Amino acid sequence: MEPTSDTPGSPIGRRTPRWDGPLKVTGKAQYASDFHFPGMLYAVPVEATIANGRITKLDTAAAEKMPGVRAVLHRGNIGKIFRSTLGAGFEGIVDERRPPFADDDIRYYGQYIALAVADTFESAKAAADAVRATYDKQKPNVSTELVADDEPDEVPTTFAPTKRLQSERGNAEKAFASAPVKLDQTYVVPAETHNPIELQGTVASWDGSMLTIYEESQGVFNLQGVLAQMFGLPKENVRVITKFVGSGFGSKLWPWTHCALAVAAARQLGKPVKLVISRRMMFQSVGHRPRVQQRVRLGATPDGQLVSLQQDYVNDQAMLDSYHEDCGEATPFMYSVPNLRVAFGRTRRNIGPPTAMRGPGAVPGLYATESALNELAAQLKIDPVRLRVLNEPKIDESVGLPFSSRHLLECYQVGGEKFGWSKRTPEVGSMKRDGLTLGWGVGGAAWIAARFPADASVQLRDDGTVRVACGTQDIGTGTYTILAQLASQKTGVPLDKIEVVLGDTSLPVGPISGGSLVTGSVVPAVFAAADNAIASLRSVAMTTPGSAFAKSKPDELAFEGGRLFVKADGPAKGVPFASVLSAAHLRLVTGNGKSEGTFGDPAPKFSTHSFGCHFVEVTWQPEIARLRVGRVVTVIDAGRIVNPLAGRNQVEGSVVMGIGMALLEHTTYDPQSGAPINSNLADYVMAVNADAPPIDVHFLDYPDYAINVLGARGIGEIGLAGFAAAVTEAVHHATGVRVRELPVKIEDLLG
Ligand code: MOS
Repeated sequence: MEPTSDTPGSPIGRRTPRWDGPLKVTGKAQYASDFHFPGMLYAVPVEATIANGRITKLDTAAAEKMPGVRAVLHRGNIGKIFRSTLGAGFEGIVDERRPPFADDDIRYYGQYIALAVADTFESAKAAADAVRATYDKQKPNVSTELVADDEPDEVPTTFAPTKRLQSERGNAEKAFASAPVKLDQTYVVPAETHNPIELQGTVASWDGSMLTIYEESQGVFNLQGVLAQMFGLPKENVRVITKFVGSGFGSKLWPWTHCALAVAAARQLGKPVKLVISRRMMFQSVGHRPRVQQRVRLGATPDGQLVSLQQDYVNDQAMLDSYHEDCGEATPFMYSVPNLRVAFGRTRRNIGPPTAMRGPGAVPGLYATESALNELAAQLKIDPVRLRVLNEPKIDESVGLPFSSRHLLECYQVGGEKFGWSKRTPEVGSMKRDGLTLGWGVGGAAWIAARFPADASVQLRDDGTVRVACGTQDIGTGTYTILAQLASQKTGVPLDKIEVVLGDTSLPVGPISGGSLVTGSVVPAVFAAADNAIASLRSVAMTTPGSAFAKSKPDELAFEGGRLFVKADGPAKGVPFASVLSAAHLRLVTGNGKSEGTFGDPAPKFSTHSFGCHFVEVTWQPEIARLRVGRVVTVIDAGRIVNPLAGRNQVEGSVVMGIGMALLEHTTYDPQSGAPINSNLADYVMAVNADAPPIDVHFLDYPDYAINVLGARGIGEIGLAGFAAAVTEAVHHATGVRVRELPVKIEDLLG
């Protein structure tokens, strides 16, 4: 077991401000689009203004003649862009497989049909606006009524073929039919669009057959592999660099077509090309959470024991791709129930390809199942927390494995105490404060916990500094700081003497910044790399002529606080590693380390997940139909928390996003044009700081050693899971209205 914050001096578990904070607020952090190169050109895509049909004529003549314009690229002149395909493991992943400009068919509004390239952004924009397209236009299908298309039992998805019957035990249908208490409801989560502050974009430059890309990517190695395929290059000819990311929320996990356009333009014109998409394009062509319709059926005994759970859901997908919003991810293990069935279908729409958005699958899934549980509690006149206690499983009943670490009931207990849940009176509208009607609601959370494979290197250098390198990314979550904490833990070198290098395919292969898995994944790699660097230092010390350690055996030496020492003499007599290196005329020693992945392990010993719960208070003023989230208590069981400051920040952000999910966010497609019509930050309303109530985040801090030696799991996404269900329950408690289609709108509450 590793020492933690309980051990004086350990950086693990210490509230550590993020290293990148000052760089970002002073403008020193270089985001992808901050990179400039001599002679660089600017590209602006032309968007289709229909959502279904064909281009019959593309008139670029006027645009080509405009000042500063270098080219207007389209299907006829862009050159070869190949398709990419899935590889083994996490390789070759994209949500929009069709290369840009591959044919003249238009399948969603905003699909790129041409690319204007010019000396300045303004000239490129003017030229893009001057391109005229004529279409053979068909009526788009953006219907919000989702009925599963006829698909086989096993369907392709973004990752791998997946069975539509996701999980089954007992006979859920039969048990439902004979259950004394039944609930059968349908819940809808609308299309939601990620809106990271940093727009997506690419700076692409070629040097002969070597391609360098600056991109705000959540996965530089996957992007490298996809681009290598699309441009017919060996992987080592492509370098992807992502130093800072202004958030991603999943929209930057997998490559999008604008990136290939920038690369093709740079190839064609022999100059570096910068392409940054507009906010409107962010709603069209870089993914969104698809609309999901979920029917949940619960059967129970009168005293609240679940006897049957069925979840049947449908998400919409694009015309060509195969996105599956995995709403059944958490359902099979969340509760004890002998009869369970989870199945899904999809239906095609003229929409841009959906993709992962914060907590993909489990977030909309738990909204539905946790809402159903709350409704069942009301039906049974049982407290909703009590209902969860009654149905807490002893093991993961879907796979018959013990949980590595599950403390969900303690989350409810701690959260309930902090919130004052025992004072809740269940009758609608029965609680008041300062002239406001109060509504209290609760919801449970779960999220995957696993490791992706990861490599890392650690260098000890002759100036007393340490360098840690890993080709993962920091998407604003604190990864730079976490890696420094890990290296400091192993070497005893203070954080301000540790340099962390991330976001570059020239570094050891690191995991995608996805699934909230980075922290859990990199711990073994960084620790092993540090151990190996220290082992190298020891060998150096023993072989350097005249060294004080020349007569020692390896196991007589120890390393602590940045010093090498003979165990028998104690650390006080130790030699700083910088001196050991200088004496040997070495600038540095390097150690490499590796984490094996556990994600998708075919023979796991444990069911590994993170858990949590939310208690939410809303205030309601019926006179003016004013609904606000008044306060939130969230308790998270995510293993050992390496950096409680960054961790809390992640969960607070999720809670604010959850308020938006519950009350504000929805992308609306115009049935006539098929355009997402609220495609800007004024009309797509999200929760912001002013909407944030007091948020009390508490971590249980039980280490989960099934994940790594520190017991640390990740925490990016779990804070959003189950939150909307807590809000809609609170809304019902205050108003008596059950809203089953998000977001809750004022008109829903006007009766
Ligand atoms: Mo997260 S949707 O895995 O970036």
